[in-house]
Amino acid sequence: MTDISMMAEPYKIKMVEAIRMTTRAEREKAIRKAGYNTFLLRSEDVWIDLLTDSGTAAMSDYQWAGMMLGDEAYAGSRNFYFLEEVVRDIMGYKHLVPTHQGRGAEHILSQSLIKKGDHVAGNMYFTTTRLHQEMAGASFHDIIIDEAHKPSVEHPFKGNVDIGKLEDLIKEFGADKIPYVAIGAPVNMAGGQPISMENMKEVSRLCRKNGIKVVLDAARVLENCWFIKQREKGYEKKSLKDICRELCSHTDACTMSAKKDAYVNIGGWLAMNDDKFFTKAKELVVVYEGLHTYGGMAGRDMEAVARGFKEATENEYIVGWRVRQVEYLGNKLIDAGIPIVHPIGGHAVFLDAKAFLPHIPQEEYPAQMLAAEIYVESGVRTMERGIVSAGRDPATGKNRTPKLELVRVTIPRRAYTNSHMDVTALAIENVWKRRDAIKGLKITYEPEALRFFQARFEPV
Ligand code: F0G
Repeated sequence: MTDISMMAEPYKIKMVEAIRMTTRAEREKAIRKAGYNTFLLRSEDVWIDLLTDSGTAAMSDYQWAGMMLGDEAYAGSRNFYFLEEVVRDIMGYKHLVPTHQGRGAEHILSQSLIKKGDHVAGNMYFTTTRLHQEMAGASFHDIIIDEAHKPSVEHPFKGNVDIGKLEDLIKEFGADKIPYVAIGAPVNMAGGQPISMENMKEVSRLCRKNGIKVVLDAARVLENCWFIKQREKGYEKKSLKDICRELCSHTDACTMSAKKDAYVNIGGWLAMNDDKFFTKAKELVVVYEGLHTYGGMAGRDMEAVARGFKEATENEYIVGWRVRQVEYLGNKLIDAGIPIVHPIGGHAVFLDAKAFLPHIPQEEYPAQMLAAEIYVESGVRTMERGIVSAGRDPATGKNRTPKLELVRVTIPRRAYTNSHMDVTALAIENVWKRRDAIKGLKITYEPEALRFFQARFEPV
C-alpha cells in the first residue's frame, strides 16, 4: 500500500481518558485475586486493555452528536427507523429486529429456527453462538477448511467453508434437519480470518439448492469486506459498501454485534428477508429484549449504531487503518520470532500458546497462563482462546480439546496508538524470553456455561 494517507490514523484526538500504570507487586496481587482469569481483573488495574474489541471503540464526533438526538419514546423512535434504513441500504435485508447486543440476536435466531434434534453447521464455533444453538436443541458441526486449525499455515481466506464437509453433513442428516448454516465473516476463533466472496457464493448455492438458510455473523463484516478488497480478484476497485451488499446477498439473515464494526459501546440486531421468520423474531424480541422498535437499546444508542456503521462503511480509511494497526503489532511479534497465527487477522493478533509454552500440556491451560503472565509483566490485558473457551461437550461432559490454543491480543477500534502497540510487543517479548520458567494452571471453580468468563485457577 503506497497511499500515504493510509500510513497514519485517519482521525485526530478530541478527548482523552487517563490510564494508570501499576507496579509488578500490585499486578501479582491482582491476578491472584482474579483467579488467573483476565476477565476478573478490575479495569483500573489494567494499563493497556487488549481483552476485546467488543464495545471498546472510541466513537466519532458524528456519533456523539447523534447521541444528543436520541428519541427516547417507548415505541416508534425515529432512531430505530434511521437504523433500519442504514442496515437496509448497506446490507439489503428486508427486516430488522434490534437487540441489546449480538448474543441477544443469536438467542432469538436460535429459538426461532431450531427444533430439538436439529444440526447447525458453521465455519468454526463462536462461544455464545454455539451455546444458543445448543440451548435451542441443536448440535453444532464445524465445516471450516482444515487449514484454519493450523496456526502457521498461510491462506488468504482461512475462514472459508470446506464445501465437501457441508455436503457430507447434508447427506448424513438430511437438509430438513439443518435449519441454517452460520457463517462468521471473518472467523473470530480462527484468528480473525476472512471468508472469500467466491466461497460464500458456493455455500449459498449449495444451501439454496437444499432449502437451508445461510445466516451471517456480521460482527466484523466490514473487516471481512476489507480483506476481500485487498485479496480477491475483481474486488480491488469496489467500495466496501458494494462488497458488503454483495456478501449479504448470498445470505438470508444476519446477527450483528454492533459493539464491533458499528463502532459503539453497546447494541446489535437481527436482520432477515423471510417474512415468517421476522414475525416469529418480533414475537420473541418483546419477551427477551424489549419492544421491536428498540430491542434493549436506548434511542441514542440506536442513533450511534446507525451512524457508526454508516461512517465505517462509507469512509474506508476507518476500517483500513484499523486492520493495518493490527498488522503493525503482528509484524513486530513476527520480527521478534514469537509464534502467532498466520496470516495476521483483522481484529487481533493471536499468540500460539502451544508453540510459546510447549512444555505445558493443554490440560494445564497454557493460553490462560500466558495471558496472566503478560498481565503481570506489563499491565497489558489479553485473553485466552483455547481449551477454557471451548468448554465441555454437553453430551459427554468432557473437555473439548481444540487444536488452537491461543491468546488473543485484541485491538479496540480507534482507542490506542501505535506507541501502545510498541510497548505491547515489548511486553510479550519479555515474557517470551522467560517462557521456560512459566508453569501451568489448574481450575478451582468452573461455571457450567461460557466458563472462560468466570472460571478461577491457581498455579500447579
Ligand atoms: N459473534 C462473534 C463473532 C463475536 O465475536 C461475538 C462477541 C458475538 C457474536 C457476540 O456478540 O458480545 O455483542 O453478545 N465477541 C466478543 C469478543 C465478546 O470479545 O470476541 P455480543
